[in-house]
Amino acid sequence: MQDLSPRPGDLDAIETASRDEIAALQLGRMKWSLNHAYENSPFYRARFDEVGVHPSDLKSLADLAKFPFTTKKDLRDTYPFGMFAVPREKLVRIHGSSGTTGKPTVVGYTRKDIDTWADVVARSINAAGGRPGDMVHVAYGYGLFTGGLGAHYGAERLGCTVVPMSGGMTERQVTLIEDFRPRIIMVTPSYMLSILDEFRRQGIDPRESSLAVGIFGAEPWTNAMRQEIEQSFDMHAVDIYGLSEVMGPGVASECVETKDGLHIWEDHFYPEIIDPATGEVLPDGEMGELVFTTLTKEGLPIIRYRTRDLTRLLPGTARSMRRIEKITGRCDDMMILRGVNVFPTQIEEQILKCHGLAPHFQIELSRAGRMDQMTVQVECTPEAADEIARASSAKSLAHYIKSVVGVTTRIEIRDPGGVARSEGKAKRVVDNRPKQ
Ligand code: DLL
Repeated sequence: MQDLSPRPGDLDAIETASRDEIAALQLGRMKWSLNHAYENSPFYRARFDEVGVHPSDLKSLADLAKFPFTTKKDLRDTYPFGMFAVPREKLVRIHGSSGTTGKPTVVGYTRKDIDTWADVVARSINAAGGRPGDMVHVAYGYGLFTGGLGAHYGAERLGCTVVPMSGGMTERQVTLIEDFRPRIIMVTPSYMLSILDEFRRQGIDPRESSLAVGIFGAEPWTNAMRQEIEQSFDMHAVDIYGLSEVMGPGVASECVETKDGLHIWEDHFYPEIIDPATGEVLPDGEMGELVFTTLTKEGLPIIRYRTRDLTRLLPGTARSMRRIEKITGRCDDMMILRGVNVFPTQIEEQILKCHGLAPHFQIELSRAGRMDQMTVQVECTPEAADEIARASSAKSLAHYIKSVVGVTTRIEIRDPGGVARSEGKAKRVVDNRPKQ
């Protein structure tokens, strides 16, 4: 794979600024953001008044801990436009996240917000090794989901040629990648695996494709999956993180030269890690729930938003801004089986260790009597599809899951193509337990 380290002039000045410079910028912007929320959003004013805090109480960055959290429930309770801090006419775009219960959570952007968003996504593509003039194939979904349009505006901002493919029509995805020869693809990692299958189905060697960099996010994925994709396509695979409530993709992104976690674009998004049970702020390095405060957003300022994502804060490396470790999963995705906490990413890691298994899987939770049971449905590779190979793959997977993760699972080996394919975010867990 090519060395894609940045050359002088490739980075924004703030990406290599000193920690003191970053902190000073953050403090000024945080004061602005708290004031803006308090003065212009009745929701935030009521919230701050309730606990007796005022924006003027913020003298240092650590004072942020005095302010109340915001949660997804707040967005639902104020659906659709109740949290905005500008008149609706000032919004140039609405997005929403699907959520699991009917109504989406709605977010809105002013023209300046869209501009900032394009800047941070452009910075993210640059960090991944993209440069002006590159062709970028965007296979994140376009629509209310922030993936497609977020990637699109960022790629245009960097000066790339964008192919706005969106998700789905997998056969066509491969045809256009072959014909247009993009250097970069932006897509969920699970959908990249569907694209990989399609390359093979069409008898095209994915390693010969034009793709040099994949920018993958919107769902958790492991370093084992990174290796699988990098080897299959002979390309760099880097991680991009974001959420609609805070902005969309481009809140944090990995640098191709280090691939050691995602640098948070701290000039726009201020991170904290808290203990999810007590809400207490934890020191850098400790594992907990990621919380974000937006520093420059006008339409929907977000103060201490509880993301439910679990990770830790690490010092900067390739850039001065702090990193988050690759996300293990969400508090909501954590399964508890006989007292052991299990995340789908841990199962993914074990599957990728087993020869004879393809990385397409789904986890089914069921209840037998009073005991919860986990079944991993996973596909065999075409080369390991006979009875003996299947039995041996199932045995190794059950063994790895028991010895590394610590739980006993049933394994169901499916034929190649036998597990539902993702065209966006993969649904890893199907909960068939009776509702309590
Ligand atoms: O998924 C925004 C996005 C689009 C990010 C494209 C990256 C690429 P939502 O639909 O609001 O927004 O979902 C946000 O997805 O809280 C995480 O749980 C998860 N997520 C996003 N990126 C990553 C990642 C978009 N790189 C939720 N690793 C977040 C792990 C991720 N989880």
